[in-house]
Amino acid sequence: MAERTADEIFKEFKEHSISEFFKKNKQMLGYSGMVRSLVTVVHEYVTNSLDACEEAGILPDIDVTITEVGENKYRVKVSDNGPGIPKKFVGKALATVLAGTKFHRYVQQRGQQGIGASGCTLFAQVTTGKPIHVVSSAGKGKGYECKISLNTVKNTPNVTDLVDLDGDFKGLSIEGEFAEVKFENSDHGVYEYLKRTALSNPHVQIRFIDPTAKEHTFIRAVNEMPERSKPTLPHPLGLAVNDLLEFAHLTQSRKLSSFFVETFARTTSNKVSELKEIAKTVDFDKDPHQLTWPEAEELIKAIRQVKWIAPDAVSIIPIGEERIRFALKNILDPEFMHVVERKPQVFKGGIPFVIEAAVAYGGKAGYSTEQGASGAILRFANRVPLLFDAGNCAITEAIKGVEWKRYNIDLDSQPVSIFVNMSSVHVPYAGVGKEAVSKEEEIIAEIKLAVMEAARGVQHFIRGKEHASFEAGRYKATMRYAKQIAGDVADLTGENAEKLEEEIEKLVAKHYPRMKDGDGGKEDEKEEAAAEEEEN
Ligand SMILES: Nc1ncnc2c1ncn2[C@@H]1O[C@H](COP(=O)(O)OP(=O)(O)OP(=O)(O)O)[C@@H](O)[C@H]1O
Ligand SMILES: [Mg+2]
Repeated sequence: MAERTADEIFKEFKEHSISEFFKKNKQMLGYSGMVRSLVTVVHEYVTNSLDACEEAGILPDIDVTITEVGENKYRVKVSDNGPGIPKKFVGKALATVLAGTKFHRYVQQRGQQGIGASGCTLFAQVTTGKPIHVVSSAGKGKGYECKISLNTVKNTPNVTDLVDLDGDFKGLSIEGEFAEVKFENSDHGVYEYLKRTALSNPHVQIRFIDPTAKEHTFIRAVNEMPERSKPTLPHPLGLAVNDLLEFAHLTQSRKLSSFFVETFARTTSNKVSELKEIAKTVDFDKDPHQLTWPEAEELIKAIRQVKWIAPDAVSIIPIGEERIRFALKNILDPEFMHVVERKPQVFKGGIPFVIEAAVAYGGKAGYSTEQGASGAILRFANRVPLLFDAGNCAITEAIKGVEWKRYNIDLDSQPVSIFVNMSSVHVPYAGVGKEAVSKEEEIIAEIKLAVMEAARGVQHFIRGKEHASFEAGRYKATMRYAKQIAGDVADLTGENAEKLEEEIEKLVAKHYPRMKDGDGGKEDEKEEAAAEEEEN
């Protein structure tokens, strides 16, 4: 075989755009498995709608419609009542990977990287060859529509068929056709995703039309907007090597030392001196744009050795105890529940987070199974439902670690839902798919405490309920014999049988003084009838 020179080989050398990269690595964006891919599309559009509405101070109304258009091929349409996107930004926003209004800010927001929506455009394009169709409001009485696709080689948008529209347009509506996806009515499906989104966002109203044309509405449970998270500076303890490099390369600061003070929270010039002492080979007078990977690595090591003041927990906005209660009541309508909001804690030596947990029993909580019922675990990070990768998640681990028997709870046979939301500016995800919270020790311990507290709150209800159902069984069984005994005694003594039966029933009832609600006894029936009359 003839040898090839370096020059010949390097004729094939090519640069490769970020969208080319994701085109080949779709799984990194959550497009793996057909059911999950469809959830990913809905998730990306819905979280964008929520972010946009909240940023504009509008209570979100979101419509999701999924239509089957072929084998493993569906049309997805998501519309909101938010601010829409200005015409000149729409192409870049929806069809340029790593472009958006959020990623340069450090706030607890759903979207961060500017990948979500453009990832959907890319996914539609590579699976069906079709552009997405967008209708947006454009100020008073105006709107526009267009089709958008992505030039993956250059990572630039193609906007076509742009038409200005007159009429009362609201928000943004995106429609796309996706293949290699599948709608499934399961624990991992779109319906469940939307239901859980409504649970963790009680200020949202969601209408969903599924592929069988059935309409489901999750009604808004509270009419106030959630508090908005304030932007904060990133805390050094939350940084990985590539984050530090990214910040350094984007900064306006001239020197590494001033870059640290200006970019990060809790970083005084004294702290920089401490870093200098440890990272001796790094020149702190150098231009941060020239920072190299080995230097960043050394700086991150130094950061881990310095003692920092914890970041400000003010930037964390949990859902709130009362809102969770409203949401659970609205959607699961349990017989009883207990909600817990814990104080901020820190992990990795200083990153604050807040855990909220709830245990709900009865009603539509848990799953109904052939045998009766079983427990459900509802995981959330910054209010976003986590449906996949449960095995790798700190929330699952913490819940599995609780001794449920102690609380009279059996996750295998009772209708219970365990709700956990972790809020933080820096949720440590276990993978790029952002479907699991990584198993940090402090986080697991804190979730366990929260869940146990919630379980204690419902424990006596469950115990009372079990006791009551046991007692009700005995009461009913005894009552069944009252008539027969009365008859037999009447035969023997010649007394009036009906009177005897009444007396025996009174005696039995005296033994079971708690048999008032829900036992099906005679007194009960009377009370129920009276109550019904009152209602009418
Ligand atoms: N429904 C919408 N209403 C208004 N603006 C939107 C809407 N959807 C997307 N945008 C704009 O498009 C930008 C890009 O969205 P995209 O989902 O790609 O990125 P992101 O939400 O910023 O981050 P992430 O990759 O984490 O989702 C957003 O930053 C936002 O400015
Ligand atoms: Mg997004």
